[in-house]
Formats: sequence, C-alpha cells, structure tokens
Amino acid sequence: MAASLVLLLLAGPTAIARAQSGAAEGQKLAFDRGKGNCLTCHEIRGGDLAGTIGPALKDIKSKYPDRNELVAILNDETMRNPQTMMPPFGRNRILTEQEIDAIVDFLETL
Ligand code: HEC
Repeated sequence: MAASLVLLLLAGPTAIARAQSGAAEGQKLAFDRGKGNCLTCHEIRGGDLAGTIGPALKDIKSKYPDRNELVAILNDETMRNPQTMMPPFGRNRILTEQEIDAIVDFLETL
C-alpha cells in the first residue's frame, strides 16, 4: 500500500487521477447487475443486498499484493478452482480486459 502510494506520487497527479477514475469505473462495473454482478455472491463495502456465496471482498491488497493474481481470478477462476461458482468473466467475455482492469483498481481500494 505505502509503496504503491509512493509510486503514484512519483508518477504525478495524472497517474493518481487515472487510478481514481479506474477505481470509480470499476466500482460501477462491479455493482452493475448486468455486468460484474459481484454483489450477488460477495459482500463489498458500499454495496447493497450482497450474497454470501463467495467470501466478503476486503483487505484485498494485503491478500493479493500482485494485481496479476486478481486479473487472473476475474479472467477465469476455474484455473485455480475447477469447482468454483464464480463465472470466468474474461474467458466468457462477460467483461473486457479494460473492464477487468478497472474492477481490479477498485478491488485494490477495498
Ligand atoms: C456466482 C457467484 C460469484 C460471482 C457472481 C462472483 N464471484 Fe468472486 N468468488 C466466488 C466464490 C465462490 C469465490 C471463492 C473462491 C472460489 O470459489 O474459487 C470467489 C472468489 C473471489 C475472489 C478471491 C477472494 C479471496 O478472498 O481470496 C475475488 C477477488 C473475487 N471473487 C472477485 C469477484 C469480483 C470482482 C466479481 C464481480 C466481477 C465476482 N467475484 C463475482 C463467487 C462469485
């Protein structure tokens, strides 16, 4: 967290603005019932009517310091767990690469 903050500060205001708008867009996509629909299965701060099929999404950055792991989970969680209930958002083209990227920005704020 601290290290990436330093990186952001070094990168300047443009990078900070980009990361923030990515996270805001990602939150919208995550909560959108026709897109990520993550709340059906996950409790997420700021979201209503969450299901509990999956674990509550919190402290994500300490659990997954490498954002590529989160991209992989969203792309196709069946790679880690063939029995998972979680849809393979990337593989099934429910979400584009850019949309997954924005959602990962958002997850890293949780
Ligand atoms: C149909 C239910 C379902 C939906 C919809 C769903 N997930 Fe999941 N998710 C799960 C389950 C169940 C797990 C537990 C791990 C497994 O099954 O492999 C999980 C695991 C995760 C993990 C790992 C959490 C951890 O603590 O290790 C992340 C991150 C995640 N989901 C993010 C998302 C995001 C973001 C969305 C929306 C784009 C989403 N999930 C949509 C069911 C779902």
